[in-house]
Amino acid sequence: MVKLAIIGIGKVGSTLAFISAMKGDFSEIILIDRNSNKAKGIALDISQSFDVEITVTDNYNDINDVDLLVLTAGAPRKVGMKREDLLEENSKIVTDIALKLRDKFRGISIIVTNPVDLMSYLYYKITGFDKKKVIGLGGLLDSLRMKYYLSKELNVAKNSINTMVIGSHDGRMVPLVRYSYVGNIPINKLLPESKIYEIVNRTKYGGDEIIRLSNTSAFFSPAICIYKILETIIKDKKEILSLSVYLNGEYEIKDCFLSVPVILGREGVEKILELELNNEEKRNLMIAYEKLRENISKLERIISL
Ligand code: LAC
Repeated sequence: MVKLAIIGIGKVGSTLAFISAMKGDFSEIILIDRNSNKAKGIALDISQSFDVEITVTDNYNDINDVDLLVLTAGAPRKVGMKREDLLEENSKIVTDIALKLRDKFRGISIIVTNPVDLMSYLYYKITGFDKKKVIGLGGLLDSLRMKYYLSKELNVAKNSINTMVIGSHDGRMVPLVRYSYVGNIPINKLLPESKIYEIVNRTKYGGDEIIRLSNTSAFFSPAICIYKILETIIKDKKEILSLSVYLNGEYEIKDCFLSVPVILGREGVEKILELELNNEEKRNLMIAYEKLRENISKLERIISL
């Protein structure tokens, strides 16, 4: 059985702990939060319902031997905020944690803290971990949102829909209409351009819509997506998921984390798939990349990498 550590027991972290306990795939779930009493309370609440060992620690040495680590620590977005507004605050938190794990942790890390592509980059640079073992949550959640809007529009079950959103996890993400299907039918054969445009736009700002309505950042679907990543790894399922991974030449992108489709299995990112993009898709991906590079320069001014 596999061990899981979750760092940051806010809404996403606690929901993930609950789902993971319920699914029963882990021999132990270790929680870390700067408010350890809150983490202890959540561990107790979940443990009373499931036969899984949930422990709380503030000693990072206790998680050196875990197989999978999920990093959700950091401030969430509030109404009107962009994910990149969290850059300064969250980069300090991620740096602090990455330094504690460097040279010690050997498992696979899943980064969720926003702005996720930049936090994955920062974590990767500080820890020096194998690039196959550092994965950011981005395109998978965005693809799920696009699936939802299509399913509502066409009245078709989500699992009959295939969507592919790549790029950065922000308004510059690139929903790939040409690679999105309902059944086996490309969506541009089913919907007029104006409707597709509307769905693409709602996908891009799907997270903002939830914040506006509930006054807090999404956590159920993000936690479900993280669980899907964990399950795909531990069951060596080799599914193709859009995840934020380190690119160094693929898609003509260098030294940056961005979501692209990858084969995910026991080893982590087992293969990066390079989709053929048309000029417009390439241009949009480059816009996302350039903005990320600009923000990496900002990051370098905050933290010396
Ligand atoms: C969202 C957060 C997880 O998109 O970035 O809801």
